[in-house]
Amino acid sequence: MLASAARLFPVLAALVLGMAGCGKEGAGTAPRSADSRTQPIVIKFPHVTAAATPKGQTADRFKQLAEARFPGRVTVEVYPSAQLMSDSDSLEALAFGEIQMIAVSLSLFDRLTQKFQVFDLPFLFPDLAAVERFQHSPDGQRLLASITDKGIRGLTFWHNGMKQLTGPRPLRVPEDARGLKFRVMESDILQAQIQAVGGSPQKMDFGEVYQALQTGTVDAQENTWSNIFSSKFYEVQPFISESNHGYIGYLVAVNPDFWKGLPEDVRTGLEAALAEATEWGNARAEAVNQEAKQNVVASQRSEIITLNADELARWREVMQPVWKQFEAAIGPDLIAAAQAAGNP
Ligand code: LMR
Repeated sequence: MLASAARLFPVLAALVLGMAGCGKEGAGTAPRSADSRTQPIVIKFPHVTAAATPKGQTADRFKQLAEARFPGRVTVEVYPSAQLMSDSDSLEALAFGEIQMIAVSLSLFDRLTQKFQVFDLPFLFPDLAAVERFQHSPDGQRLLASITDKGIRGLTFWHNGMKQLTGPRPLRVPEDARGLKFRVMESDILQAQIQAVGGSPQKMDFGEVYQALQTGTVDAQENTWSNIFSSKFYEVQPFISESNHGYIGYLVAVNPDFWKGLPEDVRTGLEAALAEATEWGNARAEAVNQEAKQNVVASQRSEIITLNADELARWREVMQPVWKQFEAAIGPDLIAAAQAAGNP
């Protein structure tokens, strides 16, 4: 596993191998069960959104539940708002055992498997219920373990919500996006989606987006209501089009060696705590986003554009050719399964 992680993440590999040479415990080292009876098991869990978002709240809930089950034995250190590291860095840090848990946007896993790109196909999922049906299906569940050999063991999926388009002018039809610089996550599909509407995509870490919008490094972006509100994008984006054109959700994952090395009772207990937190968080993600939308409306800083059926059809028509472009890489069967979840 370390060898494959080293191929994928060469910079960190150099650091880690250097560390191993100094006689320290190697990264990815599982805790010894004897020690775990006397020393607390620490789970470092960084993420990039604010604590008030669906992800922030669910991570805090998991911490509460896990620590209540194992008082003094398990400590979960949640670091919100990219205060510890960016999403990209956290993928490397997890694979090398520098941190133990992540909840990173599904869009960022395309560097490890193209199958996850199914979640980024524009207008594939009509709503969170459809996403949830797909994630619970055998195809969705198989994705969880699909990158374990790369040092990342998926345990479950968390929702954020559906994406909206924000910009410096009203974006009613795709032509309105022409020539605008859009920040996108590190995802080739999202890049292609913006190119399809005539915009210029710029991949960027979440933690840099507010400033990039404020200073004009980028003009526009796509995100969920909860991220638009909690990261204050609405303060620097005068127009928000309610397009619901894509999904943001997370793979909650652990370092596989760390997880395997946990005492059996702790691993089982943490799995139960995670299942409980997941059910709680996913059930309220939509409400958290709607509340964030109301807060944006109340702020009167951005005008919210409601798209009519014809306008939505235009976005769909222009973005959908991206599906064909990525079909072979993702797998037509997986796309069909995801689509079927939208039409139960
Ligand atoms: C983004 O980068 O826009 C999102 O993935 C952030 C997040 O974690 O919701």
